[in-house]
Amino acid sequence: MATDKSSHRGLKICLGVTVLFTLIFTTVIVTLIFTIFKPKDPIITIHPIIDLGNINFSNVTMDMDITIENPNYASFRYHNSTAYVNYRDLIVAEVPMQAQLIPARSKINLTTSADFMVGKLIEDPNFWKDFANGSLNFTSMATLPGKVAMLKTIKFKGTVNNWCDISVNISSKAVDSKCISKIKL
Ligand SMILES: *[C@@H]1O[C@H](CO)[C@@H](O)[C@H](O)[C@H]1NC(C)=O
Ligand SMILES: *[C@@H]1O[C@H](CO)[C@@H](O)[C@H](O)[C@H]1NC(C)=O
Ligand SMILES: *[C@@H]1O[C@H](CO)[C@@H](O)[C@H](O)[C@H]1NC(C)=O
Ligand SMILES: *[C@@H]1O[C@H](CO)[C@@H](O)[C@H](O)[C@H]1NC(C)=O
Ligand SMILES: *[C@@H]1O[C@H](CO)[C@@H](O)[C@H](O)[C@H]1NC(C)=O
Ligand SMILES: *[C@@H]1O[C@H](CO)[C@@H](O)[C@H](O)[C@H]1NC(C)=O
Ligand SMILES: *[C@@H]1O[C@H](CO)[C@@H](O)[C@H](O)[C@H]1NC(C)=O
Repeated sequence: MATDKSSHRGLKICLGVTVLFTLIFTTVIVTLIFTIFKPKDPIITIHPIIDLGNINFSNVTMDMDITIENPNYASFRYHNSTAYVNYRDLIVAEVPMQAQLIPARSKINLTTSADFMVGKLIEDPNFWKDFANGSLNFTSMATLPGKVAMLKTIKFKGTVNNWCDISVNISSKAVDSKCISKIKL
């Protein structure tokens, strides 16, 4: 009888300690997530490689160097997706974004190429106006759905949204791009 009672008590203490530790562990993790691990937006830069010499208004593929910097203490892996380049509300290029893993607090470089639908572009009278004026402005939009992983164990879904303003100077062939990225968990 006595041993039975004490083993019951032992079980209760054991359960209590387990619950307590679980609570402490959860609190620590949640605190970490909202402090050190507070998600920061990635920094994405794009460098389209313009080769206007090759534009013969039939088919243009443009290479792009993309740098993605992940300032977080968590890695981010995104799935295959597609970015779109717009010219004045018209989708003029699709850019395949192959799945990548960006480790915590690191930077990756990747290259991809955009296939421009030149036919659509040259049908727009604004294109010729802008071309004559010396600069072409584009915007791009990418949605990268993926997974955020902390300490290789805590994983959850996250999506990075990216928008860029791309300005091409026709005469100097210089490309200026400004991007904004946001991570949504
Ligand atoms: C125009 O594009 C086609 C197909 O991409 C290519 O075969 C041809 O050499 C190009 N012409 C010039 C003048 O660049
Ligand atoms: C246009 O480009 C695509 C791939 O980017 C290629 O498969 C196709 O042959 C090209 N068309 C012409 C006419 O060059
Ligand atoms: C992602 O794209 C690459 C290259 O386009 C392809 O080899 C791979 O199978 C794709 N992965 C998925 C999950 O679709
Ligand atoms: C990425 O490219 C930039 C220049 O384009 C270079 O300075 C940097 O070292 C590269 N980083 C990696 C990880 O390859
Ligand atoms: C032509 O370019 C100038 C300088 O970039 C700009 O201020 C002006 O608005 C442009 N005009 C048109 C019609 O786009
Ligand atoms: C393109 O953007 C640049 C800078 O963002 C601006 O100075 C220029 O006027 C714009 N051009 C057109 C045609 O909108
Ligand atoms: C394009 O670049 C040239 C040379 O750098 C500059 O003189 C010109 O003002 C630029 N044009 C536009 C529209 O920004």
